[in-house]
Amino acid sequence: MTGAVATGTLRLVLFGPPGAGKGTQAQLLKERLPIDHISSGDLFRHHLSNGTELGELAREYMNRGALVPDEVTIGMVLDRVATMPDGRGFMLDGFPRNTNQAAALDEALAQRGQRIDRVLHIKVDDDELIRRLSNRYICRKCQKPFTRDPRSGEAPKRCDDCADGGEIYQRDDDTADAVANRLAVYHEETAPVLDFYREGGILADIPGEAAVETVNGLVLKALGLTAEV
Ligand code: AP5
Ligand code: MG
Ligand code: ZN
Repeated sequence: MTGAVATGTLRLVLFGPPGAGKGTQAQLLKERLPIDHISSGDLFRHHLSNGTELGELAREYMNRGALVPDEVTIGMVLDRVATMPDGRGFMLDGFPRNTNQAAALDEALAQRGQRIDRVLHIKVDDDELIRRLSNRYICRKCQKPFTRDPRSGEAPKRCDDCADGGEIYQRDDDTADAVANRLAVYHEETAPVLDFYREGGILADIPGEAAVETVNGLVLKALGLTAEV
């Protein structure tokens, strides 16, 4: 898919399996586009670390790699979308994750005379996803993802994006069992959403196995943007 889009008002979905690089590419896109990053997983983890009722409910599902029920998830994400200032773009990451969520999103946007402009499907094989997730660490404050150094085996201690260096930790759902379940759930419940967007003509497939910068170039190209700053 080619063609430029109005970048400041862009409404985007970053789609792909666990470990595909949705969060990584969102961080890079934020540097290029004046749009907000709305990650359903980050929202749940924020609730978890604040000890809210919603966080406690989500914990059990997340730690075994299951989807949090739609009754909770859809309201949480669409409330966030509804607070976007008029005309401000956003990128959804990790939502929608089943056809029910996709329909609810479409309907909520249609009520505001809006629609999703592009869905970027980052494709990566399961073996590579498992390798990435077993080496992934994130910042407790801003949730930026990091990778353990392949030679030393060390993860960074502090986040380079947070002013006072947020603590780096490993997610509770990056255990082997939870990852296996997350991948199974992705293939069974989430991947079918691709057909919904493919039929709408807004889906772009992005090969996601190459280096982060290379994938970012493909993402920018799919949005009609050039790689250079
Ligand atoms: P969520 O937080 O959305 O997790 P996920 O979809 O499983 O995806 P990840 O965050 O693990 O992967 P990512 O694609 O962001 O990869 P990243 O950039 O970090 O959801 C967690 C849980 O919350 C769910 O299981 C569910 O329980 C619940 N939930 C969330 N949304 C929900 C919904 N809509 N409905 C119901 N429940 C919901 O990269 C991974 C690693 O790879 C990093 O170390 C990174 O540095 C590295 N990396 C990235 N790109 C590359 C590259 N090109 N080459 C090499 N390494 C790379
Ligand atoms: Mg993520
Ligand atoms: Zn941080």
